[in-house]
Amino acid sequence: MKKIAVLVSGGGSNMQSIVDSTKKGVLKGIAKVVLVISNNVCAYALERAEKEKIKTACFERKYYSDDRSYDNDILRALKSCEADIVCLAGYMRIVGKNIIDAYPGRILNIHPALLPKYGGKGMYGHHVHEAVVKAGECKSGATVHFADENYDTGSIIAQQEVDVLKDDTPQTLAKRVLEAEHKIYPEAILKIITKKSEE
Ligand code: GAR
Repeated sequence: MKKIAVLVSGGGSNMQSIVDSTKKGVLKGIAKVVLVISNNVCAYALERAEKEKIKTACFERKYYSDDRSYDNDILRALKSCEADIVCLAGYMRIVGKNIIDAYPGRILNIHPALLPKYGGKGMYGHHVHEAVVKAGECKSGATVHFADENYDTGSIIAQQEVDVLKDDTPQTLAKRVLEAEHKIYPEAILKIITKKSEE
């Protein structure tokens, strides 16, 4: 059984979809979520995790003097739960080099667009959907990729296209993209676990 740690900042619907897939979906019998870490004490994702009886931890950057000591604490928590895979699920921070180096090819991120389009600094959450609608795109979608030290540049593991409808608002588009995210994230995790066990 592979151990997954999930990093979150907000609502945690992607975290929930990963947990659900370990209970009754593609990750059943293959992986379990052992720790949910938030950088935001108010994140609803923490409540969701507690309801699922999953261990939680919260590290707020404002209590640290620098990024390195902050990321060191996160790394310690990941090591103490013996995480095999780290999933960023609406985690609104860049992950430190010390963490990236400790988990080569084992840190995944989900992004609500078809990367490399609509990625990069400042392109997160509703900003992405606003930009897509404003540009008049007819396709958007979701991407799971490996996390690296930059924003949204790691190699792509899975993508799913979503139509942008003529009367879409950023909110209606976000909802449809989120449904695609919930489907492809567990599948992408399975793909990485399967690939690793073949190596
Ligand atoms: C998701 O749409 C995720 O793709 C996005 O934040 C949302 C989190 O929702 N992440 C980014 O924009 C990262 N660049 P959730 O908390 O309900 O999973």
